[in-house]
Amino acid sequence: MATTRALARLATRQAAVRPATSVFSRGLASVVSESKTSTTPDPAPSKEPKTKTFHIYRWNPDEPSSKPRMQSYTLDLNKTGPMMLDALIRIKNETDPTLTFRRSCREGICGSCAMNIDGVNTLACLCRIPTDTTKESRIYPLPHMYVVKDLVPDMTQFYKQYRSVKPYLQRDTPAPDGREYRQSKADRKKLDGLYECILCACCSTSCPSYWWNQEEYLGPAVLLQSYRWIADSRDERKPERLDALNNSMSVYRCHTILNCSRTCPKGLNPALAIAEIKKNMAFT
Ligand code: SF4
Ligand code: SF4
Ligand code: FES
Repeated sequence: MATTRALARLATRQAAVRPATSVFSRGLASVVSESKTSTTPDPAPSKEPKTKTFHIYRWNPDEPSSKPRMQSYTLDLNKTGPMMLDALIRIKNETDPTLTFRRSCREGICGSCAMNIDGVNTLACLCRIPTDTTKESRIYPLPHMYVVKDLVPDMTQFYKQYRSVKPYLQRDTPAPDGREYRQSKADRKKLDGLYECILCACCSTSCPSYWWNQEEYLGPAVLLQSYRWIADSRDERKPERLDALNNSMSVYRCHTILNCSRTCPKGLNPALAIAEIKKNMAFT
């Protein structure tokens, strides 16, 4: 992968938290504005056009000497689906096929369309386009990540960290019936709020501690995933899992700022999971 990386992390920073009152700005040198308007033919306009402008972060690794820039597109909301992902897909299909972003499920399950929209890390497929056409929208890749192209962040380090917590069942004792590792309803309930995580990285990339210590601090998403296995009654490696996290960087870089829990598009609470890990370390 010819990934000449645009170092978005060195830009002027802004916390990507709710509410979206401020615009996330990246001070990557000068940001050039361009305008492009959808040229979609309008067969029979039945309503008054409801045009809205979207400013989208662009960077092309095939032009490494070109600086990142913002590109503007205007869409008629009457002809666009209700979600931000609908707008992006329409721009790509009808106006500018070079616009690059990830998406797959279109229903908040795959986590691939995570990006920073109007100052908030969220999933484009779950984010409604604000209907106030006087307000323009700004879309950036997830903050403080290397950029592969346009809205696509490089998730290599994130997945490396995920792999490091061994996110799978570890046990030696065979199942009593030789078939299934059973779990009581109460124990199963302890996994609620954990197993739903889709690894979109919205939380980790909204965490100031993760911004500054990404090489060592695991970040809220990976720590929540780690706790998912610590809390699992069927797993037999809880002491080892806790030991691996018990150092100054892996978990203790969390300063309970709670950006992670405020931004999670699935309504999860990674900060609580981190607090539970610390509690387990103290009392186990
Ligand atoms: S905890 Fe929420 S924001 Fe973080 S990775 Fe999981 S689903 Fe995404
Ligand atoms: S609570 Fe911890 S993990 Fe969450 S944003 Fe704050 S420092 Fe980061
Ligand atoms: S496209 Fe899958 S979560 Fe948005």
